[in-house]
Amino acid sequence: NALLVVNGSIRKMPETLFGVFFEEINHAGAGGLWAELVSNRGFESGGHHSPSIIDPWSIIGNDSLIKVSTEASSCFKRNPMALRMEVVCDGDCPLGGVGIYNHGYWGMNIEKGKTYNLVFYIRSLGSVNMSLSLTDSTGMQPLATTNIIKNDVSNWTKIVTKLEAKGSNSNGRLELKTDKKGVIWFDQVSLMPTDTYKGHGFRNDLFKMVADMKPAFIRFPGGCFVEGEYLRNAFRWKETVGAWEERPGHFGDVWFYWTDDGLGHYEFFQLAEDLGAAPIWVFNNGISHQESVDPAIIMPFVQEALDGIEFARGDSNSTWGSVRAAMGHPDPFDLKYVAIGNEDCGKKYYRENYLQFYAAIRKAYPDIKMISNCDGSRVKLDHPADMYDFHIYSDARTVFSMANTFDRTSRVGPKAFVSEYAVTGDDAGLGSLLASLAEAGFLIGLEKNSDIVEMASYAPLFVNTNDKRWKPDAIVFDSSQSYGTPSYWMQHFFKDSNGATLLNSTLQANASNTLAASAIVFQDPLSKKNNLRIKAVNFGSSTVSLKILIDGLDPNLLDTSGTQTVLTSANVKDENSFANPKKIIPVTSLVEKAGRNMDVVLLPHSLTCFDVLM
Ligand code: AHR
Repeated sequence: NALLVVNGSIRKMPETLFGVFFEEINHAGAGGLWAELVSNRGFESGGHHSPSIIDPWSIIGNDSLIKVSTEASSCFKRNPMALRMEVVCDGDCPLGGVGIYNHGYWGMNIEKGKTYNLVFYIRSLGSVNMSLSLTDSTGMQPLATTNIIKNDVSNWTKIVTKLEAKGSNSNGRLELKTDKKGVIWFDQVSLMPTDTYKGHGFRNDLFKMVADMKPAFIRFPGGCFVEGEYLRNAFRWKETVGAWEERPGHFGDVWFYWTDDGLGHYEFFQLAEDLGAAPIWVFNNGISHQESVDPAIIMPFVQEALDGIEFARGDSNSTWGSVRAAMGHPDPFDLKYVAIGNEDCGKKYYRENYLQFYAAIRKAYPDIKMISNCDGSRVKLDHPADMYDFHIYSDARTVFSMANTFDRTSRVGPKAFVSEYAVTGDDAGLGSLLASLAEAGFLIGLEKNSDIVEMASYAPLFVNTNDKRWKPDAIVFDSSQSYGTPSYWMQHFFKDSNGATLLNSTLQANASNTLAASAIVFQDPLSKKNNLRIKAVNFGSSTVSLKILIDGLDPNLLDTSGTQTVLTSANVKDENSFANPKKIIPVTSLVEKAGRNMDVVLLPHSLTCFDVLM
């Protein structure tokens, strides 16, 4: 009861059409993709004004035997706090020693046979004899242990050691203990698994999930994270580069958690390079949720943006390029896009300040594409831009119907970057099938409008299940496991669209307001043959019989068989979970009869793609 006629090609779609947006939200980075296991490694999270807050560090032992406090006695200038630990017992401390422990981000994932790099700094007036261990959450079951004895640590001393796990526990902790009376100061404690992606610090399983999406670009580091509620808590890139021990860390006051900024400006570019994705840097433009810097004094922010670009692109003799080179990347990163702020268009001074950023960057880097926060899809922008940002969060029906949003947009002028889209609210839950189908319909609309839509990315990408600041999300994880929501899997149906040829396709159906379809041709990476792909969303609750007529292509070129891949479930509100992570994932089967005419079935509430080689 529906007909899809495919006849001839329209155009090549942008190579960068579909990518990802990484924001430090929901502990996506700290306690997520960034594999550092210690949280608050420099004891800075309480800040200079609350020296007693060392969370999540805790003490091992009784208050009468051990006292800890933080004080500004670090050897690192930009992060002044250090932990002072005074031990009273001597040779008779209970359980073999007292000390401190850190359980990281809701427990550390310790895996038998794996090695962990432990680095920390200590100072003491006497000799130091300590046991360093990984244990279960109670401290009763040791998983890895080593000891250090140091006679002279009267000056700050860096300790570097390895811990080899003899057991596994996904809710582990790091313990630093001693049985000897005295005072020890600690600072900058880091525990990293040795098996991160290429040794670059990215958690392998989470990296793979993103890489599997074949993102053409990665937008980072936010979102609201870039803005901050107040500017003092915004992401300011200069505070996040250089040696990890020297980074002050900061409290992100929009998503309300501390980050040590191990995943900093450099690491984001490294991530982009490792993913083979074009980096899109969103920088703070002097605007937070509550404040806007007056145009008369915006120049330091403009210079900060220019310096951030130089950090990525400058040669290793340039001021900031040399900092990057010293961090291990002498070659420039391939930065071609920057976004001037996030969701700031309506805010005070946005336009006035934007023009100053735009002029300075255009002059210094004529090839860099600049993205405005103002929506140019309905009215012409009143300022110059290469692209404009477009965000859409709404209910499923609205998002599905927005497939046509860009149909009416002017074909001249800056292109759209749909940098955040998702179904939210009751329709979406923590990530429902319904949400993914609406989003698929929307993306089909973007494919058709890809003459003026240059890029699109779902948001947010990650959620640590222990800190759901925003739902739904594409990838859900805890310390040791992860799964994709239907919205994650939906994006796999579009990963071959980058640079593919869009074909003209016309859908005739009674229930046309619940159907969406597109046809593309791309080169199959395995066989190197052309692959005809037809995607169809059935947003309705009835089965649809679809006749596909391939016109305008030589039918003799088409294979006589193909495959179909379906994303569906019994209930439209169904979700994946840790208990059932593969409840809704793409399922591929053979289509025995392919060719010029194909009779196929679209299941109720489903996304299907038909692939035929040619
Ligand atoms: O994706 C979550 C948030 O939604 C982003 O931080 C912000 O840009 C938008 O409001």
